[in-house]
Amino acid sequence: MKQIVIASSNAGKIREFREMLEPRGYTVISQNELGDVGEADETGTTFRENAVIKAAYITNKFGIPAIADDSGLEIDAFGGKPGVYSARFLGHDTPYEYKNRIILERMENEEVRTCRYVCAIAYTEPGKDPVVFEDTCECLIAREPKGENGFGYDPIIYYEPLHKTMAEMTKDEKNAISHRGKALVKLENWLNEDH
Ligand code: IMP
Repeated sequence: MKQIVIASSNAGKIREFREMLEPRGYTVISQNELGDVGEADETGTTFRENAVIKAAYITNKFGIPAIADDSGLEIDAFGGKPGVYSARFLGHDTPYEYKNRIILERMENEEVRTCRYVCAIAYTEPGKDPVVFEDTCECLIAREPKGENGFGYDPIIYYEPLHKTMAEMTKDEKNAISHRGKALVKLENWLNEDH
């Protein structure tokens, strides 16, 4: 059984990594299961930099391979914000119900509703250079929140090809088209090659 540590304490993300990696034969361990490891400071200005910071933090501390994702939402009408600040937007602990309502209010008269989820996944291993895989999921800001699934911004993120918000999708539907799902397939293909 191949073990992989997810360098994150975000329950929604860890659940999605589990859903995607366990059927592929991995045992997924979250960093919290290693004890109170603290959090790496996300001082990077790109998803890629922050993903490497988070994975390398665990690899350096425990001497084990780790993966971390850094992800977020880019809203074109907001000049790409909140971007790498998606978790901290309007306050880290502010409920998403409120954050989503504020975004919809600010978007009320906005015709350009394009946005995208972006995900960078870093894999780190002791003594080796980090590798990073990135992907995106192009969406629109919905007119109203819909759906109960997923997490974070999902109720207001409308995915046109399926005529649903991310929160209306089943987990398999979301994982098949999401930024994280697609970046993870790239990582998996790479893990399956010889290194
Ligand atoms: P990170 O943990 O610093 O990478 O922050 C990621 C943040 O981006 C999350 O806390 C959410 O605000 C947002 N985000 C990333 N991926 C998703 C997703 O799949 N659904 C909803 N929100 C997401």
